[in-house]
Amino acid sequence: MIPEPSLQRLTIQQYERLIKNSEILSGGIERPKVFRDRSGDVWKIFRRRRRLTSDLWRPYAFRFIRNAEVLQKRGISTVKIKGLYETPHTEHWKIVHYGYLEGIPFEDLPFFEQRGFEALARWVAQLHQKGIYFRSLHLKNILWQLKAEQFALVDVSDMACFPKSLGVWRRARNFKALFRRPQDAHKLQKFGTLKFIEAYCDEAKLSGIREKVFLYLLALYNRGILKKGELK
Ligand SMILES: Nc1ncnc2c1ncn2[C@@H]1O[C@H](COP(=O)(O)OP(=O)(O)OP(=O)(O)O)[C@@H](O)[C@H]1O
Ligand SMILES: [Mg+2]
Repeated sequence: MIPEPSLQRLTIQQYERLIKNSEILSGGIERPKVFRDRSGDVWKIFRRRRRLTSDLWRPYAFRFIRNAEVLQKRGISTVKIKGLYETPHTEHWKIVHYGYLEGIPFEDLPFFEQRGFEALARWVAQLHQKGIYFRSLHLKNILWQLKAEQFALVDVSDMACFPKSLGVWRRARNFKALFRRPQDAHKLQKFGTLKFIEAYCDEAKLSGIREKVFLYLLALYNRGILKKGELK
């Protein structure tokens, strides 16, 4: 088990000063969610939205931290945790402090589409091979790191990790996340959804029958995207 980092307190004044001197990356000025401080580090606020949620016994901030560490251990580039805070606003707020990742969100890489999508498909197959089921798999949460020539993940609170590679059912289901946002589905279609799946299969090297079941499930779960009979 990875130990949880110790919870430190931020006073309201410290919090307000931090926000005032930061660039908001997500959530807007009224209700900031992710922001970048003067030194370049990133902070993410986790607010409990409902009274009854699994956040009560497994706070999303803790999941975020644990997942980031698991990903690193499995050789996947992601955020490096620097601290965990709570503020006196309410006990339902936690704030995670982590390092900025140099990189460009995949969705902002129009020039890169051709080569990029094939590389992305192979990388997703590697994630699955490493037992990672990343539920927020969409093009805003995947960065391309130019210098290191690798993909990296942000927004890592919602994922499951398994000791072995994913079975075909989870692999196929995970594609739903890639097709969920219309802008992602559109980009994938422009590149060629079938080409993307081909590159994935080429990398995943599933045995004959497993590949058949995978393609069957893929068509089943993604009916709006893949036309009947398109995948053989
Ligand atoms: N460590 C980081 N390095 C570089 N960019 C980051 C980092 N963390 C976040 N970002 C940028 O900020 C954006 C928003 O962050 P994030 O995805 O964590 O929040 P979110 O999508 O608003 O949260 P949620 O998905 O929970 O609604 C990301 O898409 C990414 O472009
Ligand atoms: Mg996100």
